[in-house]
Amino acid sequence: MPTLNINGQNHKLDVEPDIPLLWALRDTLQLTGTKYGCGIAACGACTVLLNGAPTRSCVTPVSAAVGQRVTTIEGLPTAKTGNKAARAVQAAWEKLDVVQCGYCQSGQIMSAVALLTSNPKPTDADIDTAMAGNICRCATYHRIRAAIHDASRTLA
Ligand code: FES
Ligand code: FES
Repeated sequence: MPTLNINGQNHKLDVEPDIPLLWALRDTLQLTGTKYGCGIAACGACTVLLNGAPTRSCVTPVSAAVGQRVTTIEGLPTAKTGNKAARAVQAAWEKLDVVQCGYCQSGQIMSAVALLTSNPKPTDADIDTAMAGNICRCATYHRIRAAIHDASRTLA
């Protein structure tokens, strides 16, 4: 029975170690903010953070997350797992009304938080590179880029 640290809490999961982390999060723990899009690491909808690094949970077996800090969209606002970049991203997303249908947005936000945590002042090129794996069928890309710049301005 693998034990995972998710959003600052340990969970002993009654799942096979080779099932994708995405299904452990959604089906076993009901953390449904992480979305299923393609299942082949091509869309970014399922992005979570593993030790702060954006990771496609649809192709990551539960066993690969053992011993790591898993952060999902639900964990971003908490004191245990939240950080300045997460708060800045959430505020900018609201201010610039980034979301359209919303389906891709938890993955977009996780990638944006990871980017700003490691690089608080990204250029357009940095943003394009970091966000390239997150697809948005509503094409909110311009607002996402503007919101990342806006969040960046609020970070020291
Ligand atoms: S569902 Fe994982 S990258 Fe698309
Ligand atoms: S907001 Fe609809 S898919 Fe991105």
